[in-house]
Amino acid sequence: MFGIPGYSRFECIHAGRKHRVVSAVEDATGRVVAIKMPSMLLPSGKALAVLEKEFEYLDRLDLPEIPRARGLVRTGRSIAVVMECFEFPSLKLVAEDRPLRLAEVVGVFEKLAAILVRLHARGIIHRDINPANILFERITGRVVLVDLGSAIDMPQQSSAELRPETVEGKVAYMSPEQTGRINRPVDLRSDFYSFGVSLYEMLTGRRPFAGEDAGALIHGHLAVRPPEPAALDPAIPRVLSDIAMKCLAKDAGERYQSTPGLHADLLRCRTALERHRKIASFVLGESDARDRFQFPERIVGRGQELAALQDLYGRVGRTGSAIAMVRGVSGVGKTSLVQELSRSVAAQKGYVAYGKYDQYNRAVPFSGLIQALSLLIRQILSEGEARIAVRAGVPSKRSAMGSNTLFSLAMCWVSNSM
Ligand SMILES: Nc1ncnc2c1ncn2[C@@H]1O[C@H](COP(=O)(O)OP(=O)(O)O)[C@@H](O)[C@H]1O
Ligand SMILES: [Mg+2]
Repeated sequence: MFGIPGYSRFECIHAGRKHRVVSAVEDATGRVVAIKMPSMLLPSGKALAVLEKEFEYLDRLDLPEIPRARGLVRTGRSIAVVMECFEFPSLKLVAEDRPLRLAEVVGVFEKLAAILVRLHARGIIHRDINPANILFERITGRVVLVDLGSAIDMPQQSSAELRPETVEGKVAYMSPEQTGRINRPVDLRSDFYSFGVSLYEMLTGRRPFAGEDAGALIHGHLAVRPPEPAALDPAIPRVLSDIAMKCLAKDAGERYQSTPGLHADLLRCRTALERHRKIASFVLGESDARDRFQFPERIVGRGQELAALQDLYGRVGRTGSAIAMVRGVSGVGKTSLVQELSRSVAAQKGYVAYGKYDQYNRAVPFSGLIQALSLLIRQILSEGEARIAVRAGVPSKRSAMGSNTLFSLAMCWVSNSM
């Protein structure tokens, strides 16, 4: 096996594709710690950077419900994050063992919301909320959030566009904006979406969108409204079902707008259940931030232009490919128009690649084309290995599709005419 100087009695907790997590005893103190390291013996620079970043977040946080960092150990060409160990399993494993009772679900998600309040208050978005990253001790009801490997700092300005460069998090729990398909900024409301998928799963025993196929899951997140939990099981309190559905809204503007707002509703459910053994309906979001000024997410007054682009996309399926140029003065809404098209095309499982020629990039030849192709590649990369193999024309054992699948592509150049 392996050794890390200063630690002994290693026991495997988790052996995943990317990371291994082991428990070990710290020789100097006799304390049990958890050690997270890359699964590969020779990890890439990126894999090392991800763990270094996770260490930084854990080190900065110092919260009782998130493992505290104890050290970053460099071992040969790899690194290991040493942290506080919690000796209880993930919510995923607990639920697989025996589904959670209603009171347990309400308790777990009220506590998880409280953890998110503190995490978000420190300016950090988790981006990978799912039952494997939540630890749950059934006897005590204790809840811990792990895996800050996908976390990011919140954008400083509300207008800052945080377009996902890489797609982070598990696809089944990923918000529409995290898929990188609709070009909306990722903010704390993305965590509410993943929270909603997890809550939905614990309430109903199934996820809102089934299957493992990344393309189908992304399509579900973008375009399909899942059945309400209360419709699947009448024993599920309506208000809890509504909370899950509110978190699952496609537009971030229709979800909760603040973490304390989300937490307040779950606390109300928990208190009601403890006091009256049932949860009477109440109006959701009463404590939510409603006074925050927000631009609407959908564009208005561009129906004609949008219809022209959609019509072009419709014809792409028959003729193969198309290029559209969108011209207009600065600030007239060219980018928003193309993003709106991108949203509707993504919902039809198509791709839109676009790039912008602007006054700042004049020295870079083909900058718009480069942007467009990079965007297309990012979209394909987000779909998992089997789909990548299909797109690249590499025969894949796991793929049921032929290697010559064509994909529709509309390219829009946004040019600034000044
Ligand atoms: N500090 C910890 N204490 C106890 N178990 C942990 C700890 N950190 C991670 N684990 C366990 O290891 C699993 C994988 O850890 P995680 O950080 O989520 O790795 P990955 O990046 O591979 O998803 C978790 O689901 C959890 O069961
Ligand atoms: Mg994880």
